[in-house]
Amino acid sequence: MNKEEIINSLLSDIKSIKTIKEVNDLKVKYLGKKGLVTSLTKNMRDLSEDERRLVGKDLNELKQQVTEKLDEVLIRFQEEELNKKLEMEKIDVTLPGISLPIGSPNILEKLIEDLEELFMGMGYDVKEGPEVEEDLYNFELLNLPKGHPARDAQDTFYTKDDTLLLRSQTSPVQVRTMLSMENKEAIRIICPGKVYRRDDDDATHSHQFTQMEGLLVDKDISLADLKGTFDIVAKHLFGNDRETRFRPSFYPFTEPSVELDISCFNCGGKGCHICKGTGWITVGGAGLIHPKVLENGGYDSNIWGGFAFGFGIERLAMLKYGITDVRTFYTTDLRVMNTFDRRES
Ligand code: DAH
Repeated sequence: MNKEEIINSLLSDIKSIKTIKEVNDLKVKYLGKKGLVTSLTKNMRDLSEDERRLVGKDLNELKQQVTEKLDEVLIRFQEEELNKKLEMEKIDVTLPGISLPIGSPNILEKLIEDLEELFMGMGYDVKEGPEVEEDLYNFELLNLPKGHPARDAQDTFYTKDDTLLLRSQTSPVQVRTMLSMENKEAIRIICPGKVYRRDDDDATHSHQFTQMEGLLVDKDISLADLKGTFDIVAKHLFGNDRETRFRPSFYPFTEPSVELDISCFNCGGKGCHICKGTGWITVGGAGLIHPKVLENGGYDSNIWGGFAFGFGIERLAMLKYGITDVRTFYTTDLRVMNTFDRRES
């Protein structure tokens, strides 16, 4: 191809292209190493010096022309692209805003915060303990030695051997706190947190759930103090008409031990499907701290006493909000979570 043919070919190529990429392809076709313009320089070696200078000048002009033409197209395409983009991104400030779905705190978290506030008002501190716990604190020091039948009720996840586990209850925080007290003073704590048990997940079981432990260590504490405290919690959560009762029970870390019952908020005690006809609903376990546990925590059981209790947070939330499937709490479905918000207000 000679110079003229190259220019004509370029002009016709330019007419048929639409994109920046195609401009770049043309650059390669004409000006690249094996491009049409470059190929003309190949024969220059055979020319005399004068001829070479003339042809060289000519070729340079051609190169410049081709470059200019292609740059022109490139700039035009770039401008067009920018305009298109600006057009598309045009903001109409008069349009109504798009409302984004907003999450809400998980209902378990809200219930825990609610209880924390209630207990802090009664002088309690909030304490946390490790979820990967030692058998020592989870069982041993809570008066549950190895082989104790009560261990069977809490089918536990052990980690590498039988010394380390995923805590099956929040009760280990009791002993941890007692042991951590330098001067053995009175204690009032609640300990909310996750616990783990080897249960198959279904509507009422979960391998991981939430408890709130309570511990009060002081002098001259009786079951009446526990009853008074439980009364406040029951009324706070389920209304002022609620009554409470203790039912004898057994926990190795309390003596005596009780189940914490509230009068059914649904039927008022007459008997219905929620309370299974009994008029009462069990919401937790409690008791007076076993002397051995006090001693294990470094407290002289002849001087000190106290009570402890444990609530299942999921159970409280299920009762309070009429939820029938515990798995509901662990979904992140905003439609479900937002209904709790509405039920709250
Ligand atoms: N840790 C017990 C459980 O998981 C609940 C409990 C019962 C805690 C009685 C207590 C208590 O502190 O005194 O089943």
